Amino acid sequence: MANEQPPSSEAGNSATRTPPEVRVRRIHRRDLNRAWEFLKLCFRDVNRETVEYQRPRLKKRFLEVYEEEGIEQLLFETKIANKDVIVGYAECAFEIVGSDNWMNQRYFSSRDMRPLYVEELAVHPELQGQGIGAFLLEQIEHLARVRGCTHLVLEVAENNENALKFYRTRNFYRLDAAIFLAKKISSEAELLPPRRLKKQPPKEMVKAIKAAPSPTRRRKSLG
Ligand SMILES: CC(C)(COP(=O)(O)OP(=O)(O)OC[C@H]1O[C@@H](n2cnc3c(N)ncnc32)[C@H](O)[C@@H]1OP(=O)(O)O)[C@@H](O)C(=O)NCCC(=O)NCCS
Repeated sequence: MANEQPPSSEAGNSATRTPPEVRVRRIHRRDLNRAWEFLKLCFRDVNRETVEYQRPRLKKRFLEVYEEEGIEQLLFETKIANKDVIVGYAECAFEIVGSDNWMNQRYFSSRDMRPLYVEELAVHPELQGQGIGAFLLEQIEHLARVRGCTHLVLEVAENNENALKFYRTRNFYRLDAAIFLAKKISSEAELLPPRRLKKQPPKEMVKAIKAAPSPTRRRKSLG
């Protein structure tokens, strides 16, 4: 995407200049395609390493989310080379959404937990490690507090090591999770090798088989 240039492409962005500010705002309909492309870029490397569902899910679903109540989609932008560039995206929901969600609402209600479900957090791959992720998370935590939620809850693949480290150092703890287990099966032919009869077939059987016409395949008549 023309707008999603990394900061290195900004001419004259010397180390002496003050780095640009990152601003947060709610997404607009006109941002949807740009945001989708941004998410694909952010998750490209993560997806290569994870067996769980791929992120972002489906564009159709992403567009539907915009229409749904109770879901916040926040864009974090900065100006690079005088253009507004998306550098972060955060999505959270006040209720469990989507039919493919594994979470059990009763788990939380029976423990007096009112979670804010963090559906997506993503930072531009070339701007990670600069505190944007912390900004995203602080914004979501702030939203949770002002809306009376007690916890942030999210799902992360165990082999998404960067993200896991990011959450762990920010006091996220494990609730419980599906763990994808695998065991290597030695590869062999599906069908077993031939096995010898214990004795010759009975003479009568051999005779009957000899007398019977050979099972040649009849061609279907084309008439
Ligand atoms: C996880 C993610 C949102 C963190 O964003 P970020 O902007 O790099 O986060 P910050 O700069 O605020 O914090 C970086 C911290 O995470 C670690 N980190 C994670 N990814 C990093 C990266 N690619 N480069 C440098 N540090 C990274 C650093 O060790 C650092 O730790 P510290 O806070 O102790 O210094 C970002 O890596 C990302 O978008 N990843 C791809 C998408 C993804 O996996 N999202 C989460 C799905 S559940």
